[in-house]
Amino acid sequence: MIPMIDLKKQFSEIKDEIFSVMTEILESTQYILGPKVLELEQKIARYHGMPEAIGVASGTDALHLAVKALGIGEGDEVITTPFTFFATAEAIVYTGATPVFVDVEPDTMNIDPAKIEEKITERTKAILPVHIFGHSADMDAICGIAQKHDLKIIEDCAQSFGAELRGKKTGSFGEAGCFSFYPSKNLGAFGDGGMVLLQDASVADDIRQLRNHGSKGAYRHERVGFNSRLDELQAGMLLVKFRRIDEYNEKRRKRAALYNEFLSDSVIRPVERPGARHVYHQYTLRSAKRDEIQKALRDNDIASVVYYPIPLHLQEAVSFLGYKKGDFPVAEEAAERVLSLPIYPELPEEAVKEIAAIINNV
Ligand SMILES: Cc1ncc(COP(=O)(O)O)c(C=O)c1O
Repeated sequence: MIPMIDLKKQFSEIKDEIFSVMTEILESTQYILGPKVLELEQKIARYHGMPEAIGVASGTDALHLAVKALGIGEGDEVITTPFTFFATAEAIVYTGATPVFVDVEPDTMNIDPAKIEEKITERTKAILPVHIFGHSADMDAICGIAQKHDLKIIEDCAQSFGAELRGKKTGSFGEAGCFSFYPSKNLGAFGDGGMVLLQDASVADDIRQLRNHGSKGAYRHERVGFNSRLDELQAGMLLVKFRRIDEYNEKRRKRAALYNEFLSDSVIRPVERPGARHVYHQYTLRSAKRDEIQKALRDNDIASVVYYPIPLHLQEAVSFLGYKKGDFPVAEEAAERVLSLPIYPELPEEAVKEIAAIINNV
């Protein structure tokens, strides 16, 4: 069996360090907002060249708190992509704001900047691009549009830890960068976790307050907030993996390059835009024979997943937004053709060859 990701192998390689940091934290008894959360925040902020970082309970919370702390809510619109995980839109809806979808680029499946301006109204407050599958959206164009129309940029970097465009890391282009440490992410915890990176110290303080019941400390509550703190144990274990993140991402890139080499032109392979460093959270091909390919892989005990079979504008939960089939043809076609293959730093190179051969055969 070849799984989508093999967390067992990764864990076995770092087991001693994980147990050692867990013991240290358990013995310290500082389980909530202790020194490991602070250390991780500082290290991840520095890694991205961003002044502020706040550890929160999940990637979804990172997005929710960023949108809210940037002053976006009831009556406001946030432009985003329909080709993403549901949490991207959920986070906008939580604040009372309305997600406004824009179709994606045919080659990258990231939000298409050429279609953003026609969706801007006087209610638009922000653009929320997702760096889907670990590949940067066209941030040059998006930043240009945001500047021209005085809009904020909130990046969904749940899948793109370490990805770059022209040497600049995703999560450092806009007002806020939102990360998920869901276990299967490139930098994955051993449970839920997330982080917001910010340019502005006062917005960062707002999020620190919001994640902790609206309190700056000492049982004074200036506002109604949430319980959304990054767990100290998760932060400690994430520090162990953070030391290896560049190596992990390089290994993903190496395996993606092998897929690119071994797969024939009969499938559409992922592209890397000029100047981009794709970190291949997913290696996602497209084919009109997607279902046949998936069946052949399944028959050979090889996992594959359709991320994502239903674009967000067609999800029942947001039917109140009033979209219909045909509104975003590029995203809809992608949903019918995409297939993500096993990719992780420990994936044996031989497995890539075997998987590619089965696909080429179909
Ligand atoms: C693009 C995207 N946005 C947001 C999230 C939400 O992150 P979390 O599961 O940590 O809440 C995820 C992943 O789960 C994601 O892939």
